Amino acid sequence: MRFTPAAAATLLALAPEYTLAETSASSSADQCCAALSSSAIGDKVIYPGDAAYHTSVTSYWAVNVQLEPNCIVQPHSADDVSAAVQTLTTAGGENPCKFAVRSGGHMTWAGANNIETGVTIDLSLMNSTIYDKEAKVVSMLPGSRWEAVYKTLEEYDVVVPGGRTGPVGVGGFLLGGGNSFHAARVGLACDNIVNYEVVLASGRIVNANNATNVELFKALKGGSNNFGIVTKYDLKAIDNAHLWGGINVFDNSTTTQQIDALVNFIDNIENDPYASWIGLWQYNSTTGKTLISSPWDYTKPVAHPAAFDEFAEIPRISTTNRFATLYNLTSELQQAAGYRDVFLTSTYLNSALVLHKTIEILNQKISAAIPLARGKDWSIMVIIQPWPKIYWQRNQNNGVGNVLGLDRFDENMLQVLYDYSWDNAADDALFQRLCEEAMAELDAYAQSIGKYNEYIYLNYADVTQNPLRGYGDENVEFIRQVAARYDPEAVFQRQVPGGFKVSEA
Ligand SMILES: Cc1cc2nc3c(=O)[nH]c(=O)nc-3n(C[C@H](O)[C@H](O)[C@H](O)COP(=O)(O)OP(=O)(O)OC[C@H]3O[C@@H](n4cnc5c(N)ncnc54)[C@H](O)[C@@H]3O)c2cc1C
Ligand SMILES: *[C@@H]1O[C@H](CO)[C@@H](O)[C@H](O)[C@H]1NC(C)=O
Ligand SMILES: *[C@@H]1O[C@H](CO)[C@@H](O)[C@H](O)[C@H]1NC(C)=O
Ligand SMILES: *[C@@H]1O[C@H](CO)[C@@H](O)[C@H](O)[C@H]1NC(C)=O
Ligand SMILES: *[C@@H]1O[C@H](CO)[C@@H](O)[C@H](O)[C@H]1NC(C)=O
Ligand SMILES: *[C@@H]1O[C@H](CO)[C@@H](O)[C@H](O)[C@H]1NC(C)=O
Repeated sequence: MRFTPAAAATLLALAPEYTLAETSASSSADQCCAALSSSAIGDKVIYPGDAAYHTSVTSYWAVNVQLEPNCIVQPHSADDVSAAVQTLTTAGGENPCKFAVRSGGHMTWAGANNIETGVTIDLSLMNSTIYDKEAKVVSMLPGSRWEAVYKTLEEYDVVVPGGRTGPVGVGGFLLGGGNSFHAARVGLACDNIVNYEVVLASGRIVNANNATNVELFKALKGGSNNFGIVTKYDLKAIDNAHLWGGINVFDNSTTTQQIDALVNFIDNIENDPYASWIGLWQYNSTTGKTLISSPWDYTKPVAHPAAFDEFAEIPRISTTNRFATLYNLTSELQQAAGYRDVFLTSTYLNSALVLHKTIEILNQKISAAIPLARGKDWSIMVIIQPWPKIYWQRNQNNGVGNVLGLDRFDENMLQVLYDYSWDNAADDALFQRLCEEAMAELDAYAQSIGKYNEYIYLNYADVTQNPLRGYGDENVEFIRQVAARYDPEAVFQRQVPGGFKVSEA
């Protein structure tokens, strides 16, 4: 496997003091694996050739991020994670061990959640969910998938704000913010966390909540993997697992009507925060068609709520709207794994002009790709989502706040995610380039009409973007200070090169 040139450049820039010949980096990684194998958790270390290694590598959602580390360690507990970290921070000698941290493996750029020469700590086996009925708190381990969390909670008729696609991982999602069907009611998912259990670079296991390690508690709400490895998340539960919703499919020719309805919908979410809307414009090369798919979800069991009326007047090709549990709806809403993928995202003020430009650029890139793509099965898609101020103004998170920096904005916004998928590695450079161009062109247009916003949602961001910078200077400085305090040797900056690093923000 190869890094994209941009990812490789970032990794090298992160640790210039370690730019050794590849063979010496690789023999150092082998030493790190050997040290893990002879440690107390030696039976949890797997190597190329082991069936479990193959399963782990191929369980990443995007094929282009399925790197092959020298070994993988699969902890069963926070103590195991602590043992792994203690070994990896002491074993390397002259060449400190490089490692990666992975939960659900859904981030789409190579090296964010995996490593080619080094060790991957794969948290997949730490995947249980426990509900405390008295406290109304759900404890989830990082390797859980949202569909399993929702399934476990169904018998109690509660949910948590989580992923809208079943297989997405808990661990990464909650560290980047977390957009859910419930966001207008309870804010971003991270703002519903009441406690984190974290393994620090020293191997120490600590809790972070509004009474202990308060600064770490705040910094983890958006600050990603800059401080430690989270081994448990406790979230406030929301009553009622029963919703109404489904996927509505429309012809591409209804674009203008969708845009008109969406601009109104975004400005009215605060009047009915139960309603959630997503719009996907997707061109598929095998069908040669663009279709608009729109998940409508209402977080209480009420059919045809008025919030969707304007969209419902648009002629539809099909709908699956029904009463269903959150588990059922998120099992339906999937994007195929097994492709090569790139995501780029930006945030804009709510504006029909921006939305028209978003679709115009989408269509231009489809036309540009058709004569150039060598693969047979590819898709160019844009996912448009409301990003109204109620998402950060409704839930003040027990006064602690987060580091996303959204609280400095007082406008309803929208989020654009260009999401390209393809089957042929020969097209990597083509789709990466077209997707980057699309985002840059839309950003430039939005800037020219005063509708750009500098926030970039970390969970959808590409390696070529700098989401932490969009949190604002004060938050970047705060993240830096908390990282320095909890990780004084900068292990998570230097030895864990993957992800969005505050040292690079
Ligand atoms: C099909 C699909 C659907 C999606 N749906 C949604 C959605 O509905 N809402 C939404 O907000 N986002 C969504 N996303 C984006 C999603 O939030 C991110 O991909 C997120 O990173 C997924 O979490 P993960 O556990 O799979 O992360 P991974 O890819 O495993 O990790 C992501 C990053 O977090 C770090 N990390 C992971 N776990 C830990 C941990 N325990 N401790 C420290 N660092 C850790 C990793 O090192 C890595 O840098 C979706 C993505 C895809 C591909
Ligand atoms: C946890 O992971 C194991 C191994 O992949 C799997 O067999 C099990 O079903 C998972 N449990 C849950 C609750 O998802
Ligand atoms: C989709 O509609 C736009 C007009 O909004 C048009 O330019 C484009 O060609 C259409 N795409 C396809 C694949 O039919
Ligand atoms: C979801 O519900 C539909 C009917 O409403 C049913 O056909 C489908 O099997 C359910 N899916 C799951 C995963 O439960
Ligand atoms: C394109 O559509 C085909 C047929 O529905 C489907 O099998 C394939 O997964 C789609 N491709 C992408 C990249 O989404
Ligand atoms: C701190 O968190 C606890 C548990 O979630 C909550 O009950 C309490 O109200 C919070 N305290 C403050 C001061 O916000």
